[in-house]
This record gives sequence, C-alpha cells and structure tokens, in this order.
Amino acid sequence: MPQVTEQQILDALRVVQDPDLHRDIVSLGFVKDIKICGGAVAFTIELTTPACPVKDLLREQAYAAVSAVPGVEQLKIEMTAQVRGEQRTGPLIPGVKHVIAVASGKGGVGKSTVSCNLAVALKLAGAKVGLLDADIYGPTIPIMMGAGEEQPLYDGQKMYPVMRHGIGIMSIGFFLEEGKAVVWRGPMIGKALTQFLGDVAWGDLDYLIVDLPPGTGDASMSLAQLIPLTGVVIVMTPQEVAQQIANKSIAMFQMLEQTLNRPIPILGIVENMSGFINPATGEEIPVFGKGGGRRAAAQLNVPFLGSVPIDPVISESGDAGCPAILIDPHSAQAEAFRAIAGQVAARVSTLAHQGVK
Ligand SMILES: Nc1ncnc2c1ncn2[C@@H]1O[C@H](COP(=O)(O)OP(=O)(O)O)[C@@H](O)[C@H]1O
Ligand SMILES: [Mg+2]
Repeated sequence: MPQVTEQQILDALRVVQDPDLHRDIVSLGFVKDIKICGGAVAFTIELTTPACPVKDLLREQAYAAVSAVPGVEQLKIEMTAQVRGEQRTGPLIPGVKHVIAVASGKGGVGKSTVSCNLAVALKLAGAKVGLLDADIYGPTIPIMMGAGEEQPLYDGQKMYPVMRHGIGIMSIGFFLEEGKAVVWRGPMIGKALTQFLGDVAWGDLDYLIVDLPPGTGDASMSLAQLIPLTGVVIVMTPQEVAQQIANKSIAMFQMLEQTLNRPIPILGIVENMSGFINPATGEEIPVFGKGGGRRAAAQLNVPFLGSVPIDPVISESGDAGCPAILIDPHSAQAEAFRAIAGQVAARVSTLAHQGVK
C-alpha cells in the first residue's frame, strides 16, 4: 500500500467548494489538523459559522473526495466552526463579533418572534448568542424568552444579561413598572442604547441579535451610529401593502448608510405569517396572501431569507416564554426558523469574508 501524504489529502479536498464564498475549502483555510496513521486519516473542517446551511453537504463531499485517495482505509472528519469577524463591532462591545438588527416597517408582523427564534436557532447550532431588546416602546423579549420576572444583576460597574435558553438577554422591559408607559425622546433613546451596549457585560458573542422598534425611528439611527452593524434582517407579512412598508425600512437604512458613510447591508427579507397549513389536510391557506416577501426581495434586490407559516403554536409559545423552535424541533416552523438562521449566518460569513462591514 502506498503511504498517504498530507498533500494528497489537501489536493483531493480542493474539489470541495464553499458555495457562498465561491472558493475551495483548502484555499479558504478550513482544513485543519490532518492526521495520518497508516491507512487511517482524520482531519477537521472549520467552517465560518456553526449554523452553516451546507455543513452536511461539505462533509459528504469531503468524505467522498478523500475516500477516493489510494491507501485511505479509514476516515474521520470533524466539523467545527469559528465565526470570523473579530473585534469589528468597536470599543463599546469589544467581545461581540457581529451585530444583526431585526427591523420592520410596522409592529405586529412578528419581528420579536423572529428575533427570539433566530437567536435560539443560532444558539442550538452552537453559536454564542446575545439578544438585545431595543424596542423601548413595546419590549416583549423578556416575556417571549420566559424571563419576564427577572432582573439583571448589577455589580456596581456592569449589568449582566439575564440568561435564558442559553442566550444572554437585555431589555428595557426588565426595568419598567408593569402597565406604565414611557415617553422617550430621541436623545434618551440614544443614551439608553449606549448603556445597553457599553454598560452590559455581553462577554464573547458570535452574534448579538437586536430587536429594533418598528418603523423608521431614532432607535435604528442611534444603533447604527453607535456600532457598525453587520446587517439588517427585515421582517414583513405577505400582503401587498407590506411590500411598500418593507420598501420604506430598506430606504431608511440606505439613507443611514449614506449619512454615516458606513455600509449597513440588508441581510435579507423574512416573510412571516405566510399561510396557514391546515393540520387535517396539510393544505396551505394563504391567509395574508403568498409570496409578497419573495417579490419584495426581488424588487428591492436583496436576498429572500425564507418564510414562516402562521401557527397558533408560535404565538402560544411566545406567550409562554419558550420560542416555538424549542417546542417541537421537527415542526414546519422550527424547520423554517432553522433555515432562516442558516441563511442569515451564511450571509454574515460572506460579508465578513469580503471584509464588508
Ligand atoms: N408565524 C406566526 N404564527 C402565529 N402567530 C404569530 C406568528 N408570528 C408572530 N405571531 C404572533 O403575532 C403577535 C405579534 O408578533 P411579534 O413578534 O410580537 O411582532 P412585532 O415584534 O413585529 O410587533 C404575537 O402575539 C406573536 O406571538
Ligand atoms: Mg416586537
């Protein structure tokens, strides 16, 4: 039997392409720790996100490629991930690699629901995730994450995020008296956000998800001003009018981009409440129409990240403080949220790779 060499393994792996980065995994530096012992070969493929949607495909392709090398009798491939983008978010939150804002033109479209499930999906994939509720007018994250009764700890210097479902959470909701409304003016919003970023011990995070208030307001502006955003996820419902509203939110971020002279990439559009699947027949009833999100994405030339069906489980689980994705991992909605998280993570990886911020 010929002795297998490291070079042969690397050469074989050059046929495996990362479909998002359009390069082979060897030149991307993903292949690590090659160990050869006679006919037994082991190595690690280190991806740029644990939520990589093509993880299994890459593993299969690598397996096939290396199995075909003469002399390879046994093969073990370990898949790991290291999110790239270190220290890009600036001095306010030095341990956070990527800030992903979730926005919508209007309230009630499921922005907070998407934020929670996106955060949990990324966490379940193995990423370190934080969730900031920047919806100062209607903070719902504490309740949706089952932390409504909690108070963040304060050690005299820093506030500590409340941990739920493996995710560090911060929200103005933790500090409000129940039933009391708060009147916020622009500068106050900026100040509150500055504190929620700089005075909170977020620690090392791959992704900080920020649930923005609806509309085109001060919070979005303050956030984008305070820290470089890796990108924005726009949530909309499928109706025709929703398209115009999505259009407006995207236009606002484009304007902000120009004002701040800093890229604010739109990661894409999520269509929420896109049809109700009749549990008896499996037939889909398009309650609010269908395909609006995809059409809006095409029209605005931004990626379409996926759609989430209407399901009473989603609102019940939100009210109960346990995001739908955790209730039944095999449900259509869990599948949808995982797919969306994969798309978001892949887009973030691509942007980090291109050096776009
Ligand atoms: N796909 C869905 N199916 C069923 N109910 C949903 C869905 N998405 C959101 N909801 C419910 O709709 C309401 C509004 O969602 P929420 O996430 O609070 O919206 P927003 O943050 O945009 O105001 C909540 O009661 C939520 O549980
Ligand atoms: Mg909300």
